[in-house]
Amino acid sequence: SETYPDIQRDKRFAQLTQEHVAFFRNLLGTDSAIIDGVTSDAADDIEPFNSDWMRKYRGHCKLVLKPGSTDEVSKILKYCNDNMLAVVPQGGNTGLVGGSVPVFDEIVVNMSRMNQIIEFDEVSGTLVAEAGCILEGADHFLASKGYIFPLDLGAKGSCHIGGNLATNAGGLRLLRYGSLHGTVLGIEVVLADGTVVDDLCKLRKNNTGYDLKQLFIGAEGTIGIITKVSIQCPQRSAAQNVAFFGLESFDKVQQAFREAKGQLSEILSAFELMDEGSQALVRQVTNNKRPLEDQYPFYCLIETSGSNADHDSEKLQAFLEDVMEKGVVADGTLAQDETQYRSLWAWREGITEALGHLGGVYKYDVSIPIKELYQLVEDTRARVDAAGLLGDTDEYPVRAVVGYGHMGDGNLHLNVSTRRFDERVEKVLEPFVYEWIAERQGSISAEHGLGLMKKKYIGYSRNPTMVGLMRNIKNTFDPKGILNPYKYL
Ligand code: FAD
Ligand code: MLT
Ligand code: ZN
Repeated sequence: SETYPDIQRDKRFAQLTQEHVAFFRNLLGTDSAIIDGVTSDAADDIEPFNSDWMRKYRGHCKLVLKPGSTDEVSKILKYCNDNMLAVVPQGGNTGLVGGSVPVFDEIVVNMSRMNQIIEFDEVSGTLVAEAGCILEGADHFLASKGYIFPLDLGAKGSCHIGGNLATNAGGLRLLRYGSLHGTVLGIEVVLADGTVVDDLCKLRKNNTGYDLKQLFIGAEGTIGIITKVSIQCPQRSAAQNVAFFGLESFDKVQQAFREAKGQLSEILSAFELMDEGSQALVRQVTNNKRPLEDQYPFYCLIETSGSNADHDSEKLQAFLEDVMEKGVVADGTLAQDETQYRSLWAWREGITEALGHLGGVYKYDVSIPIKELYQLVEDTRARVDAAGLLGDTDEYPVRAVVGYGHMGDGNLHLNVSTRRFDERVEKVLEPFVYEWIAERQGSISAEHGLGLMKKKYIGYSRNPTMVGLMRNIKNTFDPKGILNPYKYL
């Protein structure tokens, strides 16, 4: 491949033929369920399925299939397995590690037509839905019932709940609602040979043997296609509020986090970190007025969710006064209404889009003990600068090295914003960043997964015994290796 000189196409995989396409056309029936670039020229229509959200990864697939039912997914996979055709499962294609697009000519199985809510139990809060439901759509449905989806992230308008499970997405309120490993009650999944595994359990407790569904949560489409999801949804809070703080140092950010946990305790639902560099980029792209008049090296967004608006506001106000009095926080503002609530969140949620807008981004999504969380950004910035790659003018490839993330979860997003992707930058960053993390027993993938981007680097966070066990699992569920090949295993 011109795109990936280090990776060879696996010759065991068949090339797509007109007969294959005829089989799929006949199976799926409707024209809208298949985009065929084999027997016709559909290059423009296929392009969005071949390239990822960041425009960093691009495949060369010639066939996109959009099954409408579990039975169709099963028949597609059985046929692919029998005929050695490689497959990439695809949800909303918002993944940030190159996992959701083909590397060569793998068939894309896109789940967007499987987008129905199947049932909702208003007493227990259990939602059963097809994997292709868009996260925001599922959350709107739940809002109408007084409930909330226990996951929220900036890509909510496009990502699928099946894709969220496949990446074990963390997002903005993990601090409050926990990981999908805890909230997902059951799944239906189709294995590589077409076997349908029905574990669509709706019970909170079920300790009968191995909890197999956990393997598929975070497997990034390498061992099966998730077709349905059963998930425990919490009651939607009647009152939500947001505070936005400016802070003078990362030490103060840590103090603010401790105070927030102590003083806001049960109503704290998010504690997000942003550095000045990331906020400057949002400002540059949106031109919006900043929430605080002065600039600070760090900002925190704190959200509360509770049942009593007056009580929560009082608590948040008292917290703000206390941390300002103690000098932990230099300045702060509270949202006064829904519009301000949204606009404060936009300063946090808008970072990814602003970075994407400005050019190529090298993204690292890491977990490190909180104490050292921001040191990685400073060390990386110094290294890029020392290499002569960082500067304000066009001759420098790197515009900024910034950090933000889910402080409450010890999860930092280190982002290197470039004017153009440049091999010199990549060489300065990798494996430096991964070594830095491994030295501190951190994780090189806190929430985005490994995909194609971190394929070579799994050993920095998982020992050979664990990688060996992962390979065994892969071979058990997908012995011919047709599911998402060339990615992390
Ligand atoms: P895709 O991108 O389509 O796929 C991702 C992976 O899952 C691929 O490996 C694919 O093969 C596999 N896959 C997809 N659907 C299925 C399925 N049904 N069965 C099996 N495998 C499947 N991530 C976070 O964790 N936290 C965040 O806060 C966050 N914020 C984001 C903000 C923005 C603006 C963007 C663009 C991305 C963000 N992400 C975040 C990353 C991304 O949105 C998540 O990883 C999301 O869960 C991916 O869902 P998707 O449907 O788009 O999946
Ligand atoms: C976020 O927290 O904003 C997302 O994980 C996306 C990103 O890392 O940019
Ligand atoms: Zn994140």
